[in-house]
Amino acid sequence: MSKCVVQCQNIDKIYQDGNQSTHVLKGVDLTLLQGETLAIVGSSGSGKSTLLHILGTLDNASSGSMTIMGQDISQLSRNAQAKFRNQHLGFIYQFHHLLMEFTALENTAMPLLIGGMKAEQAKIKASAMLERVGLGHRINHKPSELSGGERQRVAIARALVSEPDLVLADEPTGNLDKQNALNIYNLIQELNLSLKTSFIVVTHDLELAAKLNKTAFLDDGVLKIQTQEAIA
Ligand SMILES: Nc1ncnc2c1ncn2[C@@H]1O[C@H](COP(=O)(O)OP(=O)(O)OP(=O)(O)O)[C@@H](O)[C@H]1O
Ligand SMILES: [Mg+2]
Repeated sequence: MSKCVVQCQNIDKIYQDGNQSTHVLKGVDLTLLQGETLAIVGSSGSGKSTLLHILGTLDNASSGSMTIMGQDISQLSRNAQAKFRNQHLGFIYQFHHLLMEFTALENTAMPLLIGGMKAEQAKIKASAMLERVGLGHRINHKPSELSGGERQRVAIARALVSEPDLVLADEPTGNLDKQNALNIYNLIQELNLSLKTSFIVVTHDLELAAKLNKTAFLDDGVLKIQTQEAIA
């Protein structure tokens, strides 16, 4: 039987600013098995990034329970949480969050170096991943010397280089033209098949969403999941 990568039950998120509160997530249930891919769609402000941050253990839910790879992250120390993220999770943020003073190669190698890999080997792996996202010719450029779409592809390479169990991606192809967006989705499918990597991808593009196993619609804080067959 496939391992459970994500299991969350009854997740609520309420942002409290002074006397103003915003109820963003309402009783979200989600189960994702190893090797499954899920697209999350929903209008702007519906809580997609909020949910992704909670799933990635970067933010806490207001209530509800969650395990990632069978582990209740809230039970871990801060150091153990950081180590867990480095070993199991890959992030592609809505805004790329690259380190501006480092090259594409150094940015991509970073998760491997943090995980303890030797610099030489990390650079070989990072360089191969940059090649796969079509940036083999730009590895020594810094983010300020790259286009928006190229930066996004560096961020994608950085998230995938350590071959994580689960990749969480927030609009990973938002800055890309159709061809480069398709290349990224093909890469997602390739890694999913060869390494059984699970993906949760926030996107506005239903055509790209259809390339994943399931689509979840986030509407007024409620998450509804459909398989592609049900949508078609
Ligand atoms: N730190 C915060 N404090 C208060 N409200 C917040 C905070 N972060 C997000 N929100 C609110 O929560 C709601 C969901 O935000 P979120 O960023 O998750 O939306 P989203 O679905 O990712 O939108 P987009 O498609 O525009 O990226 C929004 O109404 C936003 O204003
Ligand atoms: Mg967002």
